[in-house]
Order: sequence, then C-alpha cells, then structure tokens
Amino acid sequence: MKTVFLCVAVIFLGAVTAQTAPSAWPDILAALKADGRFTVFADLLEDSDTLDRINTSSHFTVFAPTDAAFAKLPAGQLDALKADPDKLEEVLGHHVVLKSAINVNTQQDKNFKAANNQTVRINSYPIVHMNMLRLCVCVALVLVGAVGAQTDSTDIPETDSTTDDTDAPELGSTTVAPIYPYIIDALTSNGHFTVFLDLLESTDLLTRINASSHFTVFAPTDAAFARLPAGQLDALKADADKLEDLLSYHVVLNSAFNLHGIQQDTTLKTANNDYVRINTYSVVHTVTVDGVNITIKNIPVNHGYVNGIEKVLSQPMGTILDIASNRSDLTTFISLLGKANLNNFFTSDRSTTIFAPNNDAFAKLSQGTLDYLNTHTADLAEVLKFHMIKHYAFYSIGMKHTFSIDSSDQHKDILMILEDGSGGLAINHAKIVERDISSVNGVVHIVDSVLIPVRVQVAIADNGVVVG
Ligand SMILES: *[C@@H]1O[C@H](CO)[C@@H](O)[C@H](O)[C@H]1NC(C)=O
Ligand SMILES: *[C@@H]1O[C@H](CO)[C@@H](O)[C@H](O)[C@H]1NC(C)=O
Ligand SMILES: *[C@@H]1O[C@H](CO)[C@@H](O)[C@H](O)[C@H]1NC(C)=O
Ligand SMILES: *[C@@H]1O[C@H](CO)[C@@H](O)[C@H](O)[C@H]1NC(C)=O
Ligand SMILES: *[C@@H]1O[C@H](CO)[C@@H](O)[C@H](O)[C@H]1NC(C)=O
Repeated sequence: MKTVFLCVAVIFLGAVTAQTAPSAWPDILAALKADGRFTVFADLLEDSDTLDRINTSSHFTVFAPTDAAFAKLPAGQLDALKADPDKLEEVLGHHVVLKSAINVNTQQDKNFKAANNQTVRINSYPIVHMNMLRLCVCVALVLVGAVGAQTDSTDIPETDSTTDDTDAPELGSTTVAPIYPYIIDALTSNGHFTVFLDLLESTDLLTRINASSHFTVFAPTDAAFARLPAGQLDALKADADKLEDLLSYHVVLNSAFNLHGIQQDTTLKTANNDYVRINTYSVVHTVTVDGVNITIKNIPVNHGYVNGIEKVLSQPMGTILDIASNRSDLTTFISLLGKANLNNFFTSDRSTTIFAPNNDAFAKLSQGTLDYLNTHTADLAEVLKFHMIKHYAFYSIGMKHTFSIDSSDQHKDILMILEDGSGGLAINHAKIVERDISSVNGVVHIVDSVLIPVRVQVAIADNGVVVG
C-alpha cells in the first residue's frame, strides 16, 4: 500500500551557514548535525554509500526527514531499516536527487530521478510528495550547491521568470566561494565577448545581475557587434538610456535557463520587461533567441548561464498588427485582414508566423480575383489564413528546402519552403522579400505573391473569373 505524505518544504539555508568556515558551503553531514532537527537522518546517512554519492556529485538536492518524521514511523520500522543495509541505501537514495540543485520554489509538478532511480515529484505549492516510503517529510532541508548541471537529463531549468524568488538561497554572498566563475570573469576569459563586457560594465545592469538570485544572459559575440550597421555601436555608447534598455533585452533575471531542457516557443521575460523567444529547429540542430542563432550555449557562471549569440537582438516594435499597420507596403493586407474579421486572429498566440503579401503582391492579382475576394469574405479569410502558421514562430534560420508545414486555413493547406540555391527563400511560389521581423506575438516575413488555396481558386473560376 502506498501512502502519500503531504508536507511543507522549508528552506532555511541561512541557519546552516553561520557556524562553518566562511570559505565554503558546509558539508551536508555537518549541516544536518548542526541544525539539530535531523539527528536520525544524519545518523543513517553517516557511513552510507548514499553520502559518498552525494559527496562526489557536482550538485545535489536532499529531502531530509526530520526527527519528528521518523518518530511517526510504525514501531520497529526504523530498527528494521538499520538492520537491512540494502534497504537503508534504497530509502536514503529516494530522498536524494544527484547532479541537480533544485530550487523547489520554482518547480511545478516536475519529476526528478532520485538516487535510487525512483521518481520524486515536486510541486511548487510548496509541498513534497514522497510516495514510496512510510517516511513523512515534514521539513525538507534543501542544500543547493549551484544552478544547474547542464548534462543531466533530470536537471529541469528554472521555470517562469515571473516567479517570486525571494526565498531562494543566496548563492553568491561574499562569504561563499562560488563553484562557477562570476559572469564578468567568465566573459573575460572566454575572449569572444570584449565589446559586450565593455558595454555591460558601463551600465547599472551589472548591479542588477549581481543582485539577482539567478540569471540567463544572451551575450552578442564580438562578431555580432561587428555586424551592426556602421556608426550604430558608437550611437549606442553615446546614449546611456538606450544602451541600458538594449542590453537589458539580452538579460533574463531571477531564472537560470539551461537551453537543453527548454520547450519550443518559450518566451522569457527580460530585465526591461519585454520577452525574448526561444526556438529549437531540429532540422538544422539550432537553438535560437528571437530567431538569432545561439552559437555558444549554457556557459555556466555563478548564479546562472551565459549564451553567446551571433547577432545583437533588437526589441520588437509591437504586435504583428502594430508592425504591419505601420508599414506602407502592407496597406492592402491590413485592409483585407479587417474585411475578413481576422484582426484578433493572433492575439491569443505568442508564436504566430505570418507570410504577409505586400501591396505589389496583391496588385499582381487580376481585378476579377480581387473583386471576388472582396465580396466573399469566407474565402478571403481562407486565403489570408493560408499565409499564417499558429503556435509556431518560424524564423528563416529554421527554413530548409522542401520543409513543409500546415497553414492555419480550415483545410490546413500545406506551406512548403523552397531554397533557390543562392540564399533566396520562397514559401510555395511566393518569394520571401523580407525576413524575420520579430514581434511581440510572432514573426512576420514579407512575400511578393498571394497564395490562394486550390479549392478557393476553383471557386473563383466557377464564378467565371480568371484566377491569378
Ligand atoms: C564528504 O565531504 C566532506 C567535505 O569534503 C568530508 O569532510 C567528508 O568526510 C566526506 N564524506 C564522505 C563520506 O566522503
Ligand atoms: C540506477 O540505474 C543505473 C543505470 O540504469 C544503474 O547503473 C544503477 O545501478 C541504478 N541504481 C540503483 C540504486 O538502482
Ligand atoms: C558584481 O559581483 C562581482 C563579484 O562579487 C564583483 O567583483 C563586482 O564588482 C560586482 N559588480 C557590481 C557592479 O556590483
Ligand atoms: C548555429 O550555430 C551552431 C554553433 O556554431 C552551428 O553548429 C549551427 O550550424 C548554426 N546553425 C545555423 C542554422 O546556422
Ligand atoms: C512606426 O513607424 C514609426 C516611424 O518609422 C516608428 O517610429 C515607430 O516605432 C513604428 N511603430 C511600430 C509599432 O512599428
């Protein structure tokens, strides 16, 4: 019979740091003994194989039953456990997650592999379920070594950056020697980030990063800065507010994201309250932020991760509709969107892709076709939706010859990417004339032709109109 225990997890790292050497985190056993509430668990752990495994693990998380928890065990069970070393290791192992330092405050319904290969589930209410043992965990002592071991599959990245992280242990206080280098030292020794480092040190952002419990930085490499239009870097340096705003768009505070575990089309809140979008394009084995290749992934630093990116990011100017409405070459597209009642089509989706035909594209259609579409709004909507992909931000970096994807029209008519061999891209027969305009709710590409689903072409022809 399985028993589920619901217990409150309390983090009290401050309590155990006080009485030990200032140069390092206390040893787990010493910390448990010093605390006073874990004497039984500490006794069991001492001389166990599990302790050796903890000691040799880069990171770990321990859910330690208190003495009160052991007192609730049925009579005789603790003695039976002590008499059976294999069982004891199994039980101890179930309370330990190796290679991962989990911040329980930011985990919702996440499963982790315990050291005995069983699964423990963490919910962020905060409550710990332990369903294998008759041990109630009434206080969980969580010793967090540092953020993330990037190779372990059980290492789930910190979730939503909006999470209140005030209970998170302070990993980088000056009394503690960090496992990973400080961000500045890591950037300096890497050698590819001299411009970014220079800019970062001239703003207040570094102070905010320093003060953040965890962070993720997308740092443009020197090559990325070299790609900026002439004069732009100097202009940026001359405008402190603009510089800080732009750099802040490259920084996620209070969350350390390991890109290996990240989901498709995840948006992360940046230090200036915008959002960057992460995509994985498996066809080209590439992970991007706002469609920009992340060329150096998951450099571990004290409190977080730094990623090298090959272009300087620019903040989106607004939603897809804001951006399209602001362009003089998309006036026909915008007016037809309104006519087809599709202005709200994107709003619920942060990751829409639009191949927007420009005015020249519509001008290429026959007057009869335009008249038909203007008077048949259901078919017009189908034509426009044929240019859209929902729930997928499809940046050009992920576009490969013959890759096809469902459009958003009712029949999910297929959109297929075609490469022309000299860098040009088309979607079906429409050439992409401008790429990767990132917006708050997705990405826009401008195309030079209007795509009309075959069944709509047939309907137009049935009306006696020459299609095209
Ligand atoms: C674990 O590491 C601590 C600190 O290095 C050491 O004092 C202790 O003896 C080690 N214990 C085991 C079981 O290896
Ligand atoms: C856990 O699984 C690994 C790999 O499958 C195995 O080598 C190890 O012995 C297992 N450990 C336990 C405690 O079952
Ligand atoms: C950030 O922290 C590092 C390491 O403690 C320190 O050397 C640096 O001066 C700090 N910078 C700022 C701006 O607080
Ligand atoms: C992105 O960068 C990585 C690392 O440099 C590289 O292997 C990959 O091919 C790049 N992807 C694309 C699509 O350029
Ligand atoms: C619209 O265009 C103006 C002028 O080019 C620009 O300043 C503004 O930021 C643009 N807004 C959007 C949402 O693109």
